[in-house]
Amino acid sequence: MLIEHLKKTDDRALTKWEHYFQVYERELGRFRKKPISFLEIGVFKGGSIPMWKDHFAEGSTLTFIDIDPACKEFEIEGTNVRIGNQADPDFLAALIEEFGSFDVILDDGSHICAHQITSFQNLWPHLRNLGLYMVEDCHTSYWPGYGGGFRNEASFIEFSKRLVDRMHSWYTDQDALFSFDEIAKEMNSVRFYDSIVAIEKLQQKEPPVSLYSENGRTEASRNSLKIRGRTSIFTGKDGA
Ligand SMILES: C[S@@+](CC[C@H](N)C(=O)[O-])C[C@H]1O[C@@H](n2cnc3c(N)ncnc32)[C@H](O)[C@@H]1O
Repeated sequence: MLIEHLKKTDDRALTKWEHYFQVYERELGRFRKKPISFLEIGVFKGGSIPMWKDHFAEGSTLTFIDIDPACKEFEIEGTNVRIGNQADPDFLAALIEEFGSFDVILDDGSHICAHQITSFQNLWPHLRNLGLYMVEDCHTSYWPGYGGGFRNEASFIEFSKRLVDRMHSWYTDQDALFSFDEIAKEMNSVRFYDSIVAIEKLQQKEPPVSLYSENGRTEASRNSLKIRGRTSIFTGKDGA
């Protein structure tokens, strides 16, 4: 259990909300079986570096970035710490150039909404298929001082809600208002936890298919994606 790691910390302090550990178990367990490439944004006092090193399989590439040059000293064997701004596309491009794509990206950096969005936009294309992009401390989306505020369109939570729409754009029935978005071809889940958004990549060459099975015979169809002006076949069944 990752939370056990708290007993093993030294003067390299670690800072995480308690309930995040449950989310880590649920979301990151499947990435432990074989070596992966992991990126964490935000080093602070370096406490998460040994935790992630313990957690992931030996041979994993573990990369950490922070804007504070002092964080370089927290680099330990088998890990890479790079100094730069998570909101700087050139720095992120250099990171990709050096380390290639990632299986898991965890944004625990500035928690400023505009930074979270810029990092996502620049790094999501470099997340591997079946990979996971997690953003922590999204409660800052409710804090004006971080570029958030209730239903502020510029917040990361509102951006993530729009990802939910974009993921469903296969099914658009209002083309002018809501057109198809290419991101639907590679996003299969946007999971909201208290203060964490976890976005999963699944590259799909073909649109989703609906299966109809009767007497052991199964037919696949995408007709529902083509029909416009749909109405529910269940209309009126509730007596209304
Ligand atoms: C919450 S702390 C990271 C905690 C660490 N992940 C842990 O688990 O202990 C946030 C870190 O983000 C860094 N940071 C702030 N703004 C940043 C930016 N624009 N780019 C990269 N890192 C930034 C800070 O220097 C700080 O070390």
